[in-house]
Amino acid sequence: MAKEPVRVLVTGAAGQIGYALVPMIARGLMLGPDQPVILHMLDIPPAAEALNGVKMELIDAAFPLLKGVVATTDVVEACTGVNIAVMVGGFPRKEGMERKDVMSKNVSIYKAQASALEKHAAANCKVLVVANPANTNALILKEFAPSIPEKNITCLTRLDHNRALGQVSERLNVQVSDVKNVIIWGNHSSSQYPDVNHATVKTPSGEKPVRELVKDDAWLNGEFITTVQQRGAAIIKARKLSSALSAASSACDHIRDWVLGTPEGTWVSMGVYSDGSYNVPAGLIYSFPVTCRNGEWTIVQGLGIDAFSRKKLDATAAELSEEKALAYSCLS
Ligand code: NAD
Ligand code: LMR
Repeated sequence: MAKEPVRVLVTGAAGQIGYALVPMIARGLMLGPDQPVILHMLDIPPAAEALNGVKMELIDAAFPLLKGVVATTDVVEACTGVNIAVMVGGFPRKEGMERKDVMSKNVSIYKAQASALEKHAAANCKVLVVANPANTNALILKEFAPSIPEKNITCLTRLDHNRALGQVSERLNVQVSDVKNVIIWGNHSSSQYPDVNHATVKTPSGEKPVRELVKDDAWLNGEFITTVQQRGAAIIKARKLSSALSAASSACDHIRDWVLGTPEGTWVSMGVYSDGSYNVPAGLIYSFPVTCRNGEWTIVQGLGIDAFSRKKLDATAAELSEEKALAYSCLS
């Protein structure tokens, strides 16, 4: 029997990530090849005409799984009945703007959209925040949508996770699909900690630790970390635009694994509400290693954290605590 369509909201859908993301969703890359979808696309009035163009293209592409498209600048219409919300819309930093100015604009956007989701989304709606500052936007959304379970509000660090897999695969000249269990800890910013201490590579003689194969701790503790931390900036420098296709693809990976489950023995990185695991302060949205089953994520417990890692976990937590304080100061 055909499945009921799932309603997926994409905010900022007329932007560049939106343009890459909506066809991926309509092709089944987010929810599976047998899952019909109805796309809800939200943008702001200046982008309404472009948004309508995206709708026209979605119709023209004749995606078999796409059962409907809502393209609107009305946040209530956009949020009504949605089962998944991918929050890409936001205000980018412009020349001459201070971090606080951007934070203040995004805090008010996420506060308003939180209320719309809380009132109008389907029960148990799963939320993924992509727009920067992603962790703190997600935290604000959580604060202003208290009836959405806190486990349903997440932010995207899967792009950083995938970047780390990509760097290891390039260095070892192995298939990226044979590398697993890297971890992104903390903030989706340059303070994040990409950790390979538990990562492995599938080889003909079994799974081997990445450290054993790379045989270069100086690279793993130095250039590898900074390359992943700075990859977003490197893409901006090269494209004069921020990453879009990789961000869209990673957003699909994030939701797919959350809804359909992670493979046995594999974890992924997700920005989730901290419960104090690994001595990360509770009450931050922080990226942890997680496994997913039956639509629920669980933080992987019991991983060894050495002194080098501890410092890095704490530094990115400190940055998130500062961002949280700044966000709250914008609200008052
Ligand atoms: P973009 O500027 O091309 O698109 C953003 C869209 O959001 C625009 O169409 C804009 O009109 C819309 N928008 C602005 N305010 C809105 C609102 N209140 N409601 C709905 N829509 C609104 O930007 P982009 O390149 O698509 O990037 C989007 C965001 O994602 C940025 O914040 C970027 O920094 C972030 N990003 C995050 C990651 C990640 O891994 N977490 C990766 C790449 C980019
Ligand atoms: C990215 O990681 O590509 C984005 O968050 C853009 C940025 O500002 O780094």
